[in-house]
Amino acid sequence: MSEQKRIPQHVAIIMDGNGRWAELRGKERCEGHAAGVEPVRASLRAAVRHGVKFLTLYAFSTENWGRPAAEVDALMELFCQCVVNEAPELIRQGVRVCMIGERSRFSEKVQKALSEIERQTASGETLTLILALNYSSRSEITRAVQRIAHRVATGELAPEQICEETLSQALDTAPWPDPDLIVRTSGEQRLSNFLLWQASYAELWFPEVLWPDFTEKEFDRAIEEYARRDRRFGLVKGK
Ligand code: FPP
Repeated sequence: MSEQKRIPQHVAIIMDGNGRWAELRGKERCEGHAAGVEPVRASLRAAVRHGVKFLTLYAFSTENWGRPAAEVDALMELFCQCVVNEAPELIRQGVRVCMIGERSRFSEKVQKALSEIERQTASGETLTLILALNYSSRSEITRAVQRIAHRVATGELAPEQICEETLSQALDTAPWPDPDLIVRTSGEQRLSNFLLWQASYAELWFPEVLWPDFTEKEFDRAIEEYARRDRRFGLVKGK
C-alpha cells in the first residue's frame, strides 16, 4: 500500500495566489491565472513521478462567480484552451480527467470541452486528475443530502439505515478515496469550502509560495512533509 511508503495516495490542492502574483508584477489578474497553468503541469508530472494516484485541484469555486465578469470569462476561456491543448500530454501520461461540482451552470462551450476531455482520457490508469469546478463543499453536501432524502421519500432507504458511508457515497467524490494531503499555496491557512467532509483526517500543508511559482520541487517538498507526519486516525500508535 502506498501508505506504508509514506506517499499520499490522494493529494488535493487549493491553487491560491494567482491574483497577488499578477498584482506584484503590475499585471492583470488574468495573467496570474494564465501563469497558473504551468504549475498544474508541474504538479501532474511530480504526482505521476511519486506514484500519487489521485490529484484534486480546486480550480473554480461556487463563490468565484462573484468576481468581475472579465476575470470569470478569462478563466472559462483558459479552462477550454487547457483541456484542448493539454489533452495529448494527459493521454500520453495516462491521466484520467474527472470533475466534481455542478457543471450545469457553465456555458455549453465549457460543458462540451469538459465532457470531451473526460471522454478522451477515460482509459487513463496512471493518475486520476479531479478538477473541482463550480464546486463548494457545502453545496456538494447539500446536494448529497437531497439525494439521500429522495431515497428515503421513495422508500428505498430507511432513516435509521443512513450512516457515514451513505453520505460519502452520495457526494461527488464517491468514486475516490479521501485526500491524504491537502496543500494550499500563498500562505493562507483555511479550507475555504473545499472537501470539508473528505478532509476529516487529511494532513494540511500551507506553503508560502504563490501558485504561479509552485514547481515540481515544491510538490516534492509537500510529499516530504507528508512523510514526516504521524497519522493516527484517532487511534493510539502501535496498539
Ligand atoms: C485562486 O487564486 C485561483 C483561481 C480562482 C483559479 C485557478 C485557476 C488556474 C490555476 C488556471 C489553470 C487551472 C486549470 C485546472 C487548467 P486567486 O485569484 O484567488 O489569487 P489571490 O488570492 O492572490 O487573489
